[in-house]
Amino acid sequence: MNILIIYKSYHRMNTEKVAKAMAEVLNATLKKAEDARPEDLAGFDLIGIGSGIYGGKYHRHVFKLIEKIPRLEKDVFLFHTAGGPDEKYDRPMKELLIAKGARIVGEFRCPGQAGFLGFIATNKGHPDEQDLEQARAFARGLTGG
Ligand SMILES: Cc1cc2nc3c(=O)[nH]c(=O)nc-3n(C[C@H](O)[C@H](O)[C@H](O)COP(=O)(O)O)c2cc1C
Repeated sequence: MNILIIYKSYHRMNTEKVAKAMAEVLNATLKKAEDARPEDLAGFDLIGIGSGIYGGKYHRHVFKLIEKIPRLEKDVFLFHTAGGPDEKYDRPMKELLIAKGARIVGEFRCPGQAGFLGFIATNKGHPDEQDLEQARAFARGLTGG
């Protein structure tokens, strides 16, 4: 199975850690959202889309990419890292993908450290090894192995 994972991560590279853990077990191609073009999604059977949550949303680079694609009739899984991971953060992206014809085959959420200068960091140390193991287990479950 040809698998592509597109992700956006910039704050503490939390989402990148999750994306890499999943890519390892899935033998997936990894692509940063800011470098991806709509044509890059062609030829893949399963596509993962991940982002940190910024101001309550997936990063605009991820939205811009998916908005440019006329149809995406493929299996797609979603993942995010956030200060307070929550299904509500996936919903707008899920709705956009479904409108493009995608089948959502899984969702994974993970705490991600948010560090702001002068403020106490939340989720210190996350994603940690246990989080990454859960990401790997989720990924294995997608392909039935
Ligand atoms: C500008 C900004 C806005 C954020 N907004 C939210 C938010 O609305 N809800 C939340 O749970 N976490 C929020 N966070 C925390 C991030 O989602 C969290 O640190 C995430 O793991 C960052 O991913 P990254 O390191 O891959 O960029 C925010 C972080 C930043 C930098």
